[in-house]
Amino acid sequence: MAFKTLLTLLAVLLCANAVFGVNVISKATWGGRAATGCSNLASNLSYVVIHHTAGTYCSTKTACSQQMRNMQNYHMDSLGWADIGYNFLIGGDGQVYEGRGWNTLGAHATSWNSKSIGISFMGNYNNNVPTAAQIAAAKALLADAVSRGQIKSNYILYGHRQVGSTECPGNNLYAEIKKWSNWRA
Ligand SMILES: *[C@@H]1O[C@H](CO)[C@@H](O)[C@H](O)[C@H]1NC(C)=O
Ligand SMILES: [Zn+2]
Repeated sequence: MAFKTLLTLLAVLLCANAVFGVNVISKATWGGRAATGCSNLASNLSYVVIHHTAGTYCSTKTACSQQMRNMQNYHMDSLGWADIGYNFLIGGDGQVYEGRGWNTLGAHATSWNSKSIGISFMGNYNNNVPTAAQIAAAKALLADAVSRGQIKSNYILYGHRQVGSTECPGNNLYAEIKKWSNWRA
């Protein structure tokens, strides 16, 4: 009986990994600096805001890690922020990169920072087109967020342009997220 329970538990753990498949490239792995401060971001949030970085596209872990370091330096040294602005980023390599993470207030959408998770695709999606791997990574991250209770299961997903006067997240990415089930007009 105990062995069967163990097998069931193992299966659940393995299935959970298979379903969510979220392998986040940690700040330590991409070579990020420690934040200079942080404010708490609540769990059980109602919103997700999708961005693009409007910067350079990258398609390897090495190149995306370099982009992460460049962006963090810009946000901290030029803009004076405590850390890279977004909660998570999606590389052109189809990997999720750790930004501020789940429970740290982001700097990505002014008055929406305190009620949303900000996820940014690396690149300029007026020109770049989100790949199937990137879309799958973002959706897996969102499913993981629901399973962790970070966002409500009926969360509303917006493109940055819907909550601010910006072209972000670029026309190609905006066209893509409009097809996602939690997107709302
Ligand atoms: C999340 O918020 C909803 C109300 O929007 C509430 O019904 C639910 O209990 C909350 N869940 C947690 C884990 O706090
Ligand atoms: Zn944006």
